[in-house]
Amino acid sequence: MCGIVGIVGRDSVADALVEALRRLEYRGYDSAGIATLERGRLDRRRAEGKLSNLQRKLVETPLPGAIGIGHTRWATHGRPNETNAHPHATGRLAVVHNGIIENFRELKNELEAAGARFESETDTEVVAQLVSHLMDQGLGPVAAVAAALPRLHGAFALAFLFAGEEDFLIGARHGAPLAIGYGQGETYLGSDALALAPFTDEITYLEEGDWAILTRDGAEIRDIAGNLARRPRQRIATQAYLVDKGNHRHFMAKEIHEQPEVVGRTLAHYVDMARGQVVLREALPFDFARLSRLSITACGTAYYAGLVAKYWFETLARLPVEIDVASETRYREPPLERDGLTLVISQSGETADTLASLRYAKAQGQHTLAVVNVPTSTIARESSAVMPTFAGPEIGVASTKAFSCQLTVLLCLALAAGRARGTLSAERERAIVDALITAPGLMAEAVTMEAAIEGLAREIAKARDVLYLGRGTSYPMALEGALKLKEISYIHAEGYAAGELKHGPIALIDESVPVIVIAPHDAIFEKTVSNMQEVAARGGRIILVGDAKGAAAAGLETLATLTMPEVDPVIAPIVYAVPIQLIAYHTAVFMGKDVDQPRNLAKSVTVE
Ligand code: AGP
Repeated sequence: MCGIVGIVGRDSVADALVEALRRLEYRGYDSAGIATLERGRLDRRRAEGKLSNLQRKLVETPLPGAIGIGHTRWATHGRPNETNAHPHATGRLAVVHNGIIENFRELKNELEAAGARFESETDTEVVAQLVSHLMDQGLGPVAAVAAALPRLHGAFALAFLFAGEEDFLIGARHGAPLAIGYGQGETYLGSDALALAPFTDEITYLEEGDWAILTRDGAEIRDIAGNLARRPRQRIATQAYLVDKGNHRHFMAKEIHEQPEVVGRTLAHYVDMARGQVVLREALPFDFARLSRLSITACGTAYYAGLVAKYWFETLARLPVEIDVASETRYREPPLERDGLTLVISQSGETADTLASLRYAKAQGQHTLAVVNVPTSTIARESSAVMPTFAGPEIGVASTKAFSCQLTVLLCLALAAGRARGTLSAERERAIVDALITAPGLMAEAVTMEAAIEGLAREIAKARDVLYLGRGTSYPMALEGALKLKEISYIHAEGYAAGELKHGPIALIDESVPVIVIAPHDAIFEKTVSNMQEVAARGGRIILVGDAKGAAAAGLETLATLTMPEVDPVIAPIVYAVPIQLIAYHTAVFMGKDVDQPRNLAKSVTVE
């Protein structure tokens, strides 16, 4: 994840850009840079490392100009050096970028064939070259950006500055946040309100697919179709900057929508995008090749992430996995071999049961590896190695973005294990990593299904009981979907392995029980179709969460079908987290429940 800023100002903007970037350093600080226009001429200053290096460079060689953009980088493509530092530029424009352009290789080949000369290894430079190429063909800046955006796949936010254009910037949001700030004769652009706090507290958050033309009088906002859009202006109370809800009614909604960006950031830490390979930066004090089995323990949603990971470790690394909820592990006292490995998963890193199980495993002589969202937490500090998720603060009690980031880390770990154990070819690993890189963009696409889910929520809200079904890695997703629904709407919901239905639970089926079936079109899809037919034959009302191919193949009358984008079955759990979270969220909102702080719950259960 990176930070981007822009200012259409009254006087010199260089110092203000640096001040805004300082507030975004929490997003990454591998390098930084700014670009401004002075009498129409574009000029840049970029520096490797911390922002202070850029500041020193600006003292030595100041950068005048009353309009500019800036960037602080968390490297995703290409080494963290000055060449790869943003802004990236051609003679016509400069651009800064937060996120991942998944199809950058394809675009880069196309542009090089058209004569473009690249200087960096980044995906961002492809954006600069593409817009420049479109302008070479006669399009103006606004038309060129409008034409370029649909060609960019992935989750990203962008800011553009054009040579000769002293009076406007363009910003665009697609899966990563972007805010507009309003000043006196100045207008600002930033990755979040925190960056703009020194200048204004009057903010507009762009929505998914929006892009905007900023001038000193304000901003003209257009939606993904290019139509003028009206977005609310709001005043952000200063102390709320770090954890404000943005345009959302609840933190849970904001955190569901943040997933494309934070999964992208987590990916950036564990994947070398250019080489298409997992690269674990954390030193692991064990060798996967020498493990005879892996023990996993966690609670709640984190436990369901572990259940998904069991399938990945066993299929990709041929590593037997034993998994249990931590409240059982700690008292069951399973026999654990010395120098074996226990993996604990925890958003907060403070859950009492998980911490107790970690301590039991250590006492048995196990290596312990923690997947946590808070690297300074107790569980992190007491583990032999830590693999952080980069979800950022998760305020909603119902875990959402932490879950999808946990899955992302666990799949990367399973791939690394497969490589270490010789069970995963380089080609297969590359194919899965290439699929993994598409996850943020697919999640951004899944989020656009929100309107359909809102309508469906009214039906689900009437139910007393709801069943969730899934096979393979969709089975833990059924468990997670049921947990999400019950913990915020208080409707009784249960998740089952679809094949298990006929061994008893099918007795529950009648027309009053919605049955939510999580089923991407994969190798076992046909088996799940049989289970759906068993449900339909008994008057059950099916809600299929699947893809168009599966819906057509099933040929079933459903209460509703939520048609997801086609995804590689290996990464399906990460992308399918979005619809199951939205189903629970909108049902609870329709029922008027306290979504962010449901009754009886706590964000971190630090007691038994
Ligand atoms: C998830 O929506 C719940 N709030 C809860 O099950 C949670 O996942 C569980 O308490 C574990 O918390 P942790 O990840 O912080 O350890």
